Amino acid sequence: MQELQLSADGRLRHLITLAGLPRAVVERMLDRAEAMRRDSQGGARPLDLLAGRTLINLFFEPSTRTRTSFDLAAQRLGALVINFDIERSSTVKGESLLDTIHTLEAMHSDAFVVRHKESGTPATIARNLRSDAAVLNAGDGNHAHPTQGLLDALTLRRHVADFSRLSIVICGDIRHSRVARSDVDVLRTLGVRDLRLCAPPELLPEADSAAFAQCTHLQNFDEAVAGCDAVIMLRLQKERMEAAAIPSEADYFARYGLDAARLARAKPGCLVMHPGPINRNVEIADAVADGTQSLILEQVGNGVFARMAVLAELLERR
Ligand code: NCD
Repeated sequence: MQELQLSADGRLRHLITLAGLPRAVVERMLDRAEAMRRDSQGGARPLDLLAGRTLINLFFEPSTRTRTSFDLAAQRLGALVINFDIERSSTVKGESLLDTIHTLEAMHSDAFVVRHKESGTPATIARNLRSDAAVLNAGDGNHAHPTQGLLDALTLRRHVADFSRLSIVICGDIRHSRVARSDVDVLRTLGVRDLRLCAPPELLPEADSAAFAQCTHLQNFDEAVAGCDAVIMLRLQKERMEAAAIPSEADYFARYGLDAARLARAKPGCLVMHPGPINRNVEIADAVADGTQSLILEQVGNGVFARMAVLAELLERR
């Protein structure tokens, strides 16, 4: 994959996955995201780094945070943004994905932001482009969600000094989660050693990822959360499950929900994260989601700066 997303001189060409991306590239993007926060005065002041560039958002799956923040990130850097309306496009007449891309390229586009239910779609698009546009993966199947991984790392970095000393639990529907895969990739790259994956057996990952293989796999959430510095909760992704893959929501919450009593087993001040959207009182209790240890809305805010950084890296020298 690196031959697709990195050029010979180490420049990022596309962003498809964080797996295998050199630590220096990751840290450069995180530093740049902080610079974007400063330079844009927290988003209040527009910048013109990408003036005249065109970005097309192609979301074949629903999205609130990712799509809006890519849109805002590009606009705050001065780019033109088209939010391609799949439902009202010729896709419904049967036009193929690649014909759609080539059509949009013919009107000139500098970047395609792609979310798709099939793993591998952004890479397929990147391999079949006819222009030098950049492809940004905004989530493909259960494969990767690289900008979510970056914004999660950015959020954690603002609260902790040394990644190598952290104990982090990722809990919930890991099997279907592209966020878990990208989080594990980036946290490993940044030096986290104690990474625990916690889920019922039917939602633990298949052995599809080298990164997952190096994590501790646990089924008991009370044990997993003990003494940890951060908990990353995941949504039950029913749209990717076979019917009745899990027992009732109440039973799931009893065993895998994060409530105040469970959180009290972690280190004092343990950070609570969730990529959203949250299922309240299915994977996380209201009091924890809205509590003082929750970084959930901070993650959302950081998503804009992380995406500004990625867009600048990919587009400014083109
Ligand atoms: C995630 C996604 O779509 O992968 N959402 C997001 O981008 N913040 C997680 C999810 O849908 O559960």
